[in-house]
Amino acid sequence: SREYDYLVVGSGLFGSVFAHEAKKRGKKCLIIDKRDHAGGNVYCKEVEGINVHQYGAHIFHTNDKQIWDYVNSFVEFNRYTNTPVALYKDKLYNLPFNMNTFYQLWGVKTPQEAKDKIQSQIEALDIKEPSNLEEQALSLIGPDIYEKLIKGYTEKQWGRSATELPAFIIKRLPVRFTYDNNYFNDKYQGIPIGGYNKLVEGLLKDIEVRLSVDYFENREEWNALADTIVFTGKIDQYYNYEFGQLEYRSLKFEHETHDVENYQGNAVVNYTEREVPFTRIIEHKHFEFGTQPKTVVTKEYPEEWTSEKEPYYPINDAKNTSTFKKYQELADKETNVIFGGRLAEYRYYDMHQIIGSALKQVSVHFQE
Ligand code: FDA
Repeated sequence: SREYDYLVVGSGLFGSVFAHEAKKRGKKCLIIDKRDHAGGNVYCKEVEGINVHQYGAHIFHTNDKQIWDYVNSFVEFNRYTNTPVALYKDKLYNLPFNMNTFYQLWGVKTPQEAKDKIQSQIEALDIKEPSNLEEQALSLIGPDIYEKLIKGYTEKQWGRSATELPAFIIKRLPVRFTYDNNYFNDKYQGIPIGGYNKLVEGLLKDIEVRLSVDYFENREEWNALADTIVFTGKIDQYYNYEFGQLEYRSLKFEHETHDVENYQGNAVVNYTEREVPFTRIIEHKHFEFGTQPKTVVTKEYPEEWTSEKEPYYPINDAKNTSTFKKYQELADKETNVIFGGRLAEYRYYDMHQIIGSALKQVSVHFQE
């Protein structure tokens, strides 16, 4: 038998949960990561005493009590509630679309007035079968909300005009006829007290981790170390891109330290105008109700993805879906490799979903 039971490629939440659970079952694991830190995309870097989310704002939310209890068993979570605001041409609007937003847009004060306003806007357009994202959004919400709060933001996110984007991207647009700015509907929501690194440290306690090593640089040597491989990197790369590359959207983050205590009064401010190049500004201290003298903000710019850039959002269109299926067929035939996580499954996952998926794979693998 080899030195390790499992070689886990990638120390993101998927790899960390898997390794933790395997260790709990008496197995010996080695985790490797090509980055110089563990945790994958939930990693935070401390700047000015503030946990700065390095790969985009991360807010934990779930309806699943078991998953909530699971993460809280490693680190206590605070009661942060995500209440983003949108800035459009010098005016602020509450999100998600709710009575506060409708009051700000139209001065309406009752749910019935808001419903009537939206309905009359939709009816005036008379769109029968939406053929693109713009028509889809207009037919769901009407022109005021679409123009001010959806159009520019979506076009920046995808780098394309809303009339060139498929309608299926927006299936529904949640509207709420209460004065409730809570972005998520889930029962549980919060940020780990002390940051996400605490969660990752808890998961990886007493597990051997080697950083700044790329699996593909010494593939055969790594393979020789363990009986089973848990692979959480890119599935197309695992198979040497033999069916072509899977495509992504990327992001660029610009972090700035400001010598003020409070820069924007909220963790998340969306910039919904097309002309502003970034989609949002994150002020990290507000995730943890920080009182540090300075502040750190991050501007988020959507970008075209090229193979040197971080792959953030999979593009699940017909072409990529069919390419992924071919890789998945190969993966299904492997006997000692487990594929999991957002890159190996070519799927957008929230954190609670990744944890759920890792725990499920664990129970399948260990036949529990
Ligand atoms: P993850 O990418 O974290 O880990 C994979 C690891 O594998 C990386 O550390 C990588 O370096 C390593 N790796 C890859 N190839 C390798 C190789 N060849 N050799 C060695 N190591 C290799 N979710 C949520 O619930 N609430 C939120 O608010 C957000 N916000 C958010 C914002 C943005 C911008 C994004 C892109 C995503 C979110 N998420 C989120 C989703 C969340 O980030 C996601 O669910 C998890 O981080 C996924 O964990 P994984 O382990 O799958 O991948």
